[in-house]
Amino acid sequence: MSDKFAQLILEGKTYTFPVYEGSYGEKAIDISTLLKQTGHITLDRGYVNTGSCTSDITYLDGKAGVLDYRGYAIEELAENCSFVEVAYLLLHGDLPNEQELMEYRDLMSQYALIHEDMIHFFDHFPPNAEPMSILSTMVNSLHNFYPELTTHPDPTETFDSITARLLSKVRTIAAFSYKKSKGHPLIYPRYDLNYCENFLNMMFDTPTRPYKILPEVVSTLNKLLILHADHEQNCSTSTVRLVGSAGVSLYASIASGINALWGPLHGGAAQEVVEMLEGIYADDKDFEKYIRKAKDHSDPYRLSGFGHRVYKTFDPRAQIIKKSCDETLAALNVSDPLLDVAKELAERVRNDDYFVSRNLYPNVDFYSGIIYRAMGIPTNMFTVMFALGRLPGWLAHWREMIGNKESRRIGRPRQLYIGPTRRRFIPLGERK
Ligand code: SDX
Repeated sequence: MSDKFAQLILEGKTYTFPVYEGSYGEKAIDISTLLKQTGHITLDRGYVNTGSCTSDITYLDGKAGVLDYRGYAIEELAENCSFVEVAYLLLHGDLPNEQELMEYRDLMSQYALIHEDMIHFFDHFPPNAEPMSILSTMVNSLHNFYPELTTHPDPTETFDSITARLLSKVRTIAAFSYKKSKGHPLIYPRYDLNYCENFLNMMFDTPTRPYKILPEVVSTLNKLLILHADHEQNCSTSTVRLVGSAGVSLYASIASGINALWGPLHGGAAQEVVEMLEGIYADDKDFEKYIRKAKDHSDPYRLSGFGHRVYKTFDPRAQIIKKSCDETLAALNVSDPLLDVAKELAERVRNDDYFVSRNLYPNVDFYSGIIYRAMGIPTNMFTVMFALGRLPGWLAHWREMIGNKESRRIGRPRQLYIGPTRRRFIPLGERK
C-alpha cells in the first residue's frame, strides 16, 4: 500500500491514484484503475514514461551511470565473478556459494549437448543464413525436444535444470552454427572446461590445429557476457515477459527475445558499429562526413553505438569494455585500426554540441565488437554473443513474470483509434 497519492483533475472531477516509491526513491503513479475511474487511457509511444511491472532484478540510474544486478555493482561483478556466477545471481537473487556454483556448473555440463537430430537442422540453412535467425529457430525447436516445458513449469522445482539446460545448449548451438558456416567439423563441449573455455574451444578448436585457450581471453569473455547479462525492461526483455504472459513455453518466450534483440536499434547495434567503423576507415577516415550525416534528420543514418533510452551520461558498461579493449588487444598482440577509429569518433562526438545536448554517449555496443573481432568472432555473430550474455536476464525476468500473480496477467496494451468511423458496406460491383 502507499501513503502518497497523485491527483488528476479531468473534466472538473478530481481522481486520486497511489504513488509508489522504488528502492532508491524513484516514484511511480499506479494508474491501474485509470480507465475504470475516468474512461481514459494513457498514450505513451515507445513506453518512455510507462513502467510495466515492479522488479527486484536490475537497477539502472541513467543520470548517475549506475547498473546493479540484485544490488551488486556491475563494476564489482565484472571484475570478480565468472559469467555463470552472475547468471546464478540473476536467477536466484544471491551469489552462489562454492557448493551451489559447483552444482550449477555440473548441471550445465550435463546439458551441454543438443539432440543429435537437431544437428541435421544446420544442414538445411542456406550458407549465408543469419546466425540470429538460426539461433531463434533452434531455440524455438528445443520446445519439440523438451516438451515438458509446454506450459508454465513450476519454477521452484526444476528451475535450475531448466535454466542450466538453456544456458548450456544455446552456447553449443551458437558454436555449432559457426562451425557449420565454416564447413568445419563440430567440436563438442568438454566436461573439463568451464562455460567460456568451452565456448571458445567449440568455436576455434580444429582437429588439425588445436586452439590455445588464453586466460586473458577467457577473462574478457566472462566480463563481456556479464556486462550484457541484464538491463531491466529493455526491448527484448519486455518481449520475453509479454510473450511469456500468454502462457507459451519458455523456449518460445526466449526465441521471441532473440528476435527482438536482433534489431539494429537494439542488440544488432554491435554489428552495425563495426560496419560503420569499417565504412569510415575505408572512406579515408572522413569522420566529419559521417557525423554530418548522423546529425541530418533528413538522412536516416545514425551513429550506431551512441545514445541510450536510459543512460543520459555514460553507459557504465561501455566504460568497462573500452578499458578491456586495450587490455585484450595487448594480450592477443593484436592492433586493430578500427579501435583508433572508434576512439577518435568518440572524442569528436564528445566535443560536438549536437550529441552532447542530446546526451548521446557510447553505449554497451560501441566497443564490444572490437574485442569480439580480436577474439576471432565474426561480425555477424556479435548479436549472438549479446544473446548468450542476455539469456540469464531473460530467464530471471521470465521467472519473475510467471512467479507473480499480478505480472502473470496476459500483457495487452490499449490504443487510441483514429481510423474511419462506421460506414456503409459497398458491394464489389458498386465500388468505383
Ligand atoms: C542497446 O534499452 C536498453 O537497455 C538497450 C540495451 C540493453 O542492454 O538491452 O542497452 C542495449 O540496445 C543499446 C542501444 C544500441 N543501439 C544503438 O546504438 C543504435 C543507435 N542509437 C539510437 O538509435 C538511439 O539512441 C536509441 C535507439 C539507442 C535510443 O533511442 P531513443 O531513446 O528513442 O532516442 P531518440 O531516437 O528519441 O533520440 C533522441 C534524439 C533524436 O534527435 P531529436 O529528434 O531530439 O533532434 O537523439 C538523436 C535522435 O535523432 N539520436 C541520434 C542517435 N541516437 C539518438 N542521432 C544520431 N546518432 C544516434 N545514434
